[in-house]
Amino acid sequence: MPMNLTGRSFLTLKDFSPEEIRYLLDLSRDYKSLKRAGIYPKRLQNKNVALIFEKSSTRTRCAFTVACADEGAHPEYLGKNDIQMGKKESIPDTARVLGRMFDGIEFRGFEHSVVEELAKWAGVPIWNGLTDDDHPTQVLADFQTIEENLGAIRGKKLVYVGDGRNNVANALLTGAMKMGMHFTIAAPESLFTKNDLQDWAFKVAKQTGATFELERDPLKAVRGADAIYTDVWVSMGEENKPGIQERVESLRPYQVNSKLMAATGKRETLFLHCLPAHHTDGVHDMEVTEDVFESANSKVFDEAENRLHTIKAVMAATLT
Ligand code: CP
Ligand code: NVA
Repeated sequence: MPMNLTGRSFLTLKDFSPEEIRYLLDLSRDYKSLKRAGIYPKRLQNKNVALIFEKSSTRTRCAFTVACADEGAHPEYLGKNDIQMGKKESIPDTARVLGRMFDGIEFRGFEHSVVEELAKWAGVPIWNGLTDDDHPTQVLADFQTIEENLGAIRGKKLVYVGDGRNNVANALLTGAMKMGMHFTIAAPESLFTKNDLQDWAFKVAKQTGATFELERDPLKAVRGADAIYTDVWVSMGEENKPGIQERVESLRPYQVNSKLMAATGKRETLFLHCLPAHHTDGVHDMEVTEDVFESANSKVFDEAENRLHTIKAVMAATLT
């Protein structure tokens, strides 16, 4: 179905209807096939794209850069020490300057309010490349990966195990509610989704047929799961926060290992992770064991590749 997303920012999946998310997933699937066939539609010719990164990135940065190169746009990387924003220049002023020169701006940083303020002032689409609260481009790649392996996402059971209130967990919850999935977070109660997002999720679930559960017991949570997802226990920018060691200790029972995978009762359950991951041998237990990470059920590198195709779809849909 043709869909007009031209000029829209991509800050959170909350702002997009299920039909619009479906459109982006279909466009991404098409871009992947075209690239496999050596076809580059060059839909972004003569576009200039700013990539602002206040935090490190491998996948997101490279996906935006390669997507620009594939489609004929020029990407300009602006690291945290390269521009005046937040030091000598305000966010509204920076947004208005960049908006006069660039056709679209990616931002990765800390407070979610910054990406919202950029979108308010820039006059061109802003794409959220990760904030402390959200990571919407990641979820498109995750959903594409699930569909490639298991078919339509609607009705699938996705269980996120670990730090249940980080950016990736929030973004997955948002996307899952929009797309009518059965989403469970397995975490200690102290790391359950914040109340305002919980309220939003339950409200949207009623409209879309999705379900949302919060569960302390990881073995119970994963029963019947089509996909198990985890992420790091300490996100970027949290390394020196008070209480971080206690948090890591509280998450040890939530490691994704072969016992947890077996507790799904299904042989084909996918293992997903946004990456970068700490995959360990059982000596230094972190979020996933080496055997699960390297197993045939693990689709983490498909997810990583799909960041390219989904980000290309988001840029093409909002810029042209
Ligand atoms: N998954 C993800 O966003 O990876 P990067 O931090 O490497 O961009
Ligand atoms: N939750 C992680 C995701 C990295 C892609 C972080 O914010 O560091």
